[in-house]
Amino acid sequence: MSEPIRVLVTGAAGQIAYSLLYSIGNGSIFGKDQPIILVLLDITPMMGVLEGVLMELQDCALPLLRDVIATDKEDVAFKDLDVAVLVGSMPRREGMERKDLLKANVKIFKIQGAALDKYAKKSVKVIVVGNPANTNCLTAAKSAPSIPKENFSCLTRLDHNRAKSQIALKLGVSADDVKNVIIWGNHSSTQYPDVCHAKVKLHGKEVGVYEALKDDSWLKGEFITSVQQRGAAVIKARKLSSAMSAAKAIGDHIRDIWFGTPEGEFVSMGVISDGNSYGVPDDLLYSFPVVIKNKAWKFVEGLPINDFSREKMDLTAKELTEEKETAFEFLSSA
Ligand code: NAI
Repeated sequence: MSEPIRVLVTGAAGQIAYSLLYSIGNGSIFGKDQPIILVLLDITPMMGVLEGVLMELQDCALPLLRDVIATDKEDVAFKDLDVAVLVGSMPRREGMERKDLLKANVKIFKIQGAALDKYAKKSVKVIVVGNPANTNCLTAAKSAPSIPKENFSCLTRLDHNRAKSQIALKLGVSADDVKNVIIWGNHSSTQYPDVCHAKVKLHGKEVGVYEALKDDSWLKGEFITSVQQRGAAVIKARKLSSAMSAAKAIGDHIRDIWFGTPEGEFVSMGVISDGNSYGVPDDLLYSFPVVIKNKAWKFVEGLPINDFSREKMDLTAKELTEEKETAFEFLSSA
């Protein structure tokens, strides 16, 4: 057995965390031989609820969980972390302007970025889930200058899984038979789910998704909007936002960081752009196709981009640039 790793989940009294914590504790993300010290952070008014979550985790009697710490204090929560999963954020309330939401979140992620900088290991992997996830992730990275910016990523894997699953359902195959879908850009309704490079296994043979489906108008229309609007559709139906599927996607995202992506496959995650990849402006936290090896991600290089894709990739980059500008105004004044 290896030494325990220290994993923080923020927003730990919330609904995503409730679905996520068990899979962290049972070894299905970091491996069955990796002991874990689990740290749970939430805000002070939620400490009673968090106490209940802590009791339930104890009652699961999970052998890999060496300790569970519930706290509302940053210096306790961020100390010596190997992994930080930042789920907690300020939710959008009815009538709230997008700018006000951004401002409230800049404040949270500036504080948490600074706490990572001060207390966490420099090798910490930070995964941001709380919305607006891309810009929150950028804010945290900017507020933690001593931690490599490549250690920060935001979750677009749920969108990726949604895209994969829509294709699998349409073709009547398993989700596992579909690979290399891409989510470009923002985890918002401007994201671009792209299957130009995706492959599907049909009757034992790997073929392109466009070739397999022979339905370009669906792929360029309803498919894209249904993935873009899926979160809203779940909220409308469930009266709560996606939690089970979000927790599953967080597990997929972290497992790939930890163990790498399979040979010949790439996944989508929000990472910092370098200005040289796919015409995305420098220093944006944008979702790209990446491959991961030895806990480090790399852009998938050289995929040809057609005019249809270009336009959609630029649109979501524009939205992210505007979000970034607003966030940075608040960041310097917060
Ligand atoms: P929730 O409202 O059930 O839980 C959020 C928790 O965060 C609450 O317990 C709250 O007290 C806590 N929290 C708020 N501010 C905090 C702070 N400063 N420090 C620590 N904890 C804090 O929400 P849910 O459903 O668990 O969703 C969490 C976030 O994840 C939301 O922002 C949601 O929009 C986002 N989300 C992102 C997805 C993605 O694909 N990137 C997918 C689904 C949800």
